[in-house]
Amino acid sequence: MTTTLDRAEAFCARFGLRLPILLAPMAGACSPSLSIAVGQAGGLGACGGLLMQPAAITAWAQDVRAGSNGAFQLNLWIPDAAPLRDTAHEAKLRDFLAGFGPEVAEEAANATPPDFNAQCEAMLAAGPAIISSIMGLYPPDFVARMKAQGIAWFAIVSTPAEARAAEAAGADVIVAQGAEAGGHRGSFDPNLAEAQSVGLFSLLPAVVDAVNIPVVATGGIADSRGIAAALTLGASAVQIGTGFLRCPEAKIAPAWADALGQTAPEATILTRAFSGRTGRSIATDYVRQANAAEAPAPAPYPVQRALTQAMRDQATRDGDIQRMQAWAGQSAALAQARPASELVTSLWDGARALLGG
Ligand SMILES: Cc1cc2nc3c(=O)[nH]c(=O)nc-3n(C[C@H](O)[C@H](O)[C@H](O)COP(=O)(O)O)c2cc1C
Repeated sequence: MTTTLDRAEAFCARFGLRLPILLAPMAGACSPSLSIAVGQAGGLGACGGLLMQPAAITAWAQDVRAGSNGAFQLNLWIPDAAPLRDTAHEAKLRDFLAGFGPEVAEEAANATPPDFNAQCEAMLAAGPAIISSIMGLYPPDFVARMKAQGIAWFAIVSTPAEARAAEAAGADVIVAQGAEAGGHRGSFDPNLAEAQSVGLFSLLPAVVDAVNIPVVATGGIADSRGIAAALTLGASAVQIGTGFLRCPEAKIAPAWADALGQTAPEATILTRAFSGRTGRSIATDYVRQANAAEAPAPAPYPVQRALTQAMRDQATRDGDIQRMQAWAGQSAALAQARPASELVTSLWDGARALLGG
């Protein structure tokens, strides 16, 4: 009979890891130093490439390889259809945002993210062990090119139906993202992200039963108890985001790192107010007011992200958590402010002890 620890060991052997802990890809919070530290402890590093130009993705991979022998995943969002623009409504949003930060220039909303196809080429050229997707599935020709290069595809999903679709499209591993997760929810359909919020205790066994490939658990896992629970529920490994954000190597704004340590589970909230896509943030003054019924509804992604850029930048410069983009999972208070390598080792020692290994 395959035990929980055998399953985790098989996953580690397949992907060249010494322990089944993966750093979550986190756009804007994935310094090479964090992946180097996680890799040195035997876990998997990660780059959330969403906002990075192709040359920055290439440089990230070079930096991590220079600092450790550890494997890593490169990650991109699958783009949504082009947003429908409503300039009259955008004007209302600019007025609203001027109450929280600088005046927003009319042309600010036209900013576009880096070119997805060029980012994909940079990922393939970097040749990582793993490429992951969120918000949908890679097109078949890209999947074929990944496979030809021996790169494994980890697909992030938030429902069993998305897991089945990812397996059918050729994913090698499913990453089941519970609604506890910090940052954006990976729902393939942006309109279902909030309505289909499933907690990891329900999602994980349902996804494990729905597919025949290994499943990684993510969302709200930040200590040894969570790791042991996720492996017991059928996961082969865990992926941790918020739980690494207070490590010095993460290099996030100090006000954000400090606030995470004091954020109770009920003090996070789902919101579209930063980017137009639903994500989980600390319930700050800005988020609570932007989520209120009387506030103008957020524009679609990436228009809302562009409109909020000036406020977010100013808040980071000012160290003002109330207006900062302060993503946080529901287990934020469990995040420890200690070196990432040490944290990974102690998390796994604790989980193994709980699992009797
Ligand atoms: C700051 C931040 C940025 C994130 N950016 C990405 C991203 O670019 N791509 C992605 O697949 N997931 C992203 N996520 C989601 C994480 O990969 C992961 O699903 C989540 O952190 C797990 O929940 P936890 O934060 O409770 O550990 C992000 C999460 C955070 C907190």
